[in-house]
Amino acid sequence: MSDGLIRRDRVFGLLAGEPGRVERLRERVVARDRVFNFMERFPLPDTEVVMDAGTLLYLEGVTVSFDGFKALNDLNLYIDDGELRCIIGPNGAGKTTMMDVITGKTRPDQGKVFFGRNTNLLTLDEAAIAAAGIGRKFQQPTVFENLSVFHNLELSMAADKGIWSSLTWQLNGLQRDRIDEVLELIGLDTQRHQRAGALSHGQKQWLEIGMLLTQNPLLLLVDEPVAGMTEHEVEQTAELLVALAGQHSVVVVEHDMAFVRSIARRVTVLHEGHVLAEGSMEQIQNNPKVIEVYLGAADADG
Ligand SMILES: Nc1ncnc2c1ncn2[C@@H]1O[C@H](COP(=O)(O)OP(=O)(O)OP(=O)(O)O)[C@@H](O)[C@H]1O
Ligand SMILES: [Mg+2]
Repeated sequence: MSDGLIRRDRVFGLLAGEPGRVERLRERVVARDRVFNFMERFPLPDTEVVMDAGTLLYLEGVTVSFDGFKALNDLNLYIDDGELRCIIGPNGAGKTTMMDVITGKTRPDQGKVFFGRNTNLLTLDEAAIAAAGIGRKFQQPTVFENLSVFHNLELSMAADKGIWSSLTWQLNGLQRDRIDEVLELIGLDTQRHQRAGALSHGQKQWLEIGMLLTQNPLLLLVDEPVAGMTEHEVEQTAELLVALAGQHSVVVVEHDMAFVRSIARRVTVLHEGHVLAEGSMEQIQNNPKVIEVYLGAADADG
């Protein structure tokens, strides 16, 4: 079963950078579920999970222990196809650990993690999870400082296609168009020939998001994207992430509440490895449990 999934993922990896790839991935990950809905009355493999047709990412009962300490404790999280979700919570709530579980960096002790209804992420390694359509942006941008903005995007596209080391690889017209499209999206069109090392901190963050976009992920995980950005860069990042939703599902972890407020649709509050509350920003802000956790943390800080 997992063999079949991985092999199929390689095929999709080859399509990276070509228009329509997201649609094809979506067709594969989400639309196939509809067939399974139709087949509900037939016996299904035991990897099958019960989820709504529009759900893209499914975590249920996920527990991660570090030396007996539960960083995640019976975590349930469901992300819809095309959704922009903000995840907030005090330091140590388990937000980064949750991303580690989704991307295969950390394996849970318990629980289910599915991408679409049929891709059991716990059976895939990190590379196969990325190829299945999950991109992750870490807090520190990791761009190639000595290469141009354009070349960074070109390399990330080549890496995704598994031809990183091929000296003879050249962009075809469609791939070049995709890079142009990404440059426009991340607002670095006029900097395309600039050395990445000369970009501002915020621009490097956008370039890194762009490098993920050349691989057309269905789901984008972004951990603290606006830390260290200027006010203007924070606003532009908000616009970028909002623009990506719909075409991609975007999960944003962030402490900057003004930023979260500016992009928030549905917000999840994590606390001690568990979902404390979920809803609109207004519902969250008026939730007594959330107020207690945040005020408690502020009291403890001083
Ligand atoms: N590899 C590890 N070994 C031991 N403990 C860990 C490990 N990774 C995380 N933890 C612990 O698990 C808890 C959750 O950490 P995590 O990094 O997921 O929190 P977070 O919500 O991302 O916090 P922050 O907002 O500070 O980034 C913390 O108490 C952390 O110390
Ligand atoms: Mg973290």
